[in-house]
Amino acid sequence: MKLTVIGCGYLGATHAAAMAELGHEVLGMDTDPDKVAALNAGRAPFFERGLDELLTKHTASGKLRFTTSSAEAAAFADLHFIGVGTPQKPGEMAYDLTHLFAATRQLAPHLTRPAVIVGKCTVPVGTAPQVIGILREFAPAGDQVEVCWNPEFLRESHAVEDTLHPDRIVLGFTGENTRAETMIRHAYGKIIKSGTPVIVTDLATAELVKSAANAFLATKISFINAMAEVCETSGADIQPLAEALGHDPRIGRRGMRPGLGFGGGCLPKDIRGFMARAGELGADQALNFLREVDSINTHRHERMLDLTREQLNGVIKSKRITVWGAAFKPDTDDIRDSPALAVAQALHQAGASVTVSDPKALDNARKIHPQLDYAEDPIKAAEGAELLLHLTEWPEFTRIDPADLATRVAVPRVIDGRGTLNRARWQAAGWTHRALGRP
Ligand code: UGA
Repeated sequence: MKLTVIGCGYLGATHAAAMAELGHEVLGMDTDPDKVAALNAGRAPFFERGLDELLTKHTASGKLRFTTSSAEAAAFADLHFIGVGTPQKPGEMAYDLTHLFAATRQLAPHLTRPAVIVGKCTVPVGTAPQVIGILREFAPAGDQVEVCWNPEFLRESHAVEDTLHPDRIVLGFTGENTRAETMIRHAYGKIIKSGTPVIVTDLATAELVKSAANAFLATKISFINAMAEVCETSGADIQPLAEALGHDPRIGRRGMRPGLGFGGGCLPKDIRGFMARAGELGADQALNFLREVDSINTHRHERMLDLTREQLNGVIKSKRITVWGAAFKPDTDDIRDSPALAVAQALHQAGASVTVSDPKALDNARKIHPQLDYAEDPIKAAEGAELLLHLTEWPEFTRIDPADLATRVAVPRVIDGRGTLNRARWQAAGWTHRALGRP
């Protein structure tokens, strides 16, 4: 099949490469010429394991190409996936849908043949009818342009795998036609044949599934972090507690790792955008608990700062602190809403001398926080440190020998914000070890 993917960020670039891997002819479209040039050269403008290999393979095979032209996209195919970003509006809880509406508006005048537009981005419920409104106003093909909502559930750091092997495919339609469904089922043919469940529903439900899924995931993380707070005040240990809960299949272990909380470009803004939309719909009461989920999450940063102060005998000013981690989670260079950087920045503001190390995210961190010090090598970053904070659980950090590291730091003192450093090993190597949620 021929298809396009409009918007080539984390979602779109991965979707385009994955669609080529499934055997389709794909044209990716993005307004940023630098991004398009990098993608055409087989390089993603961000780090995502396995993606460069797919981009290289399919730009070379001729199955995948990128352009900045909406006209070219409209001429190329009749199936268009839209994967542009829907960030949080600055200073507000609501989504900024500017990119989505602009992309639709740019494509619409070129839609002279029957076409199917598939929305993949995360949006507040009720957005698809606005997209349809723009298409009706500006697309020459009129109501021959059909719209489907098909939310994406990929996780950064597992994006390729999640796109090629999703847990489920959700398709929302207006209910007026079946042409769109036939085309999309064809596009996902290989995935569907492999047994992936397909849920066909209306537009609003499809939009809402994504909001509900991310709200649930965020709630699960804040739940276990709330338990960690209770552990901290009662002398209990969150690690065996989480393990014990996880053995109940109704609760499950996945997505319930306690620690510094959730960040990234999705969960924080999605729960806020969901609350904002519920408020507009008069259903704010139903989502009041998400305010608590958000506040438990940010409270983890404060708790980390308290522990830091406590370990430094009440004085943060002028202390040499090393932070391991800048990315919002391991295996990505994404620093959006990164809990690690929020803590590093707060310590800098409190007068500490902070050096941050991260295997992939330092370039991005430098651009946003030029005031912090950075070191590629986590061991060099820790030289002379009076306190080490482990804030993003990269496997690179857990592999470091604490005995060797103890000889490099000024004081062998560590706070584990992610619970993945082996406490017994670090203590045996002479470290004072503290961890969120542990006695
Ligand atoms: C999240 C969802 O997991 C995806 O299903 C969804 O498609 C995506 O948002 C999206 O809306 O596009 P992602 O933001 O890539 O994916 O990352 P997650 O793996 O969910 O992690 C989010 C944050 O929660 C990270 O900061 C991570 O460290 C933290 N986390 C995750 C925990 O603190 N504990 C956990 O058990 C899991």
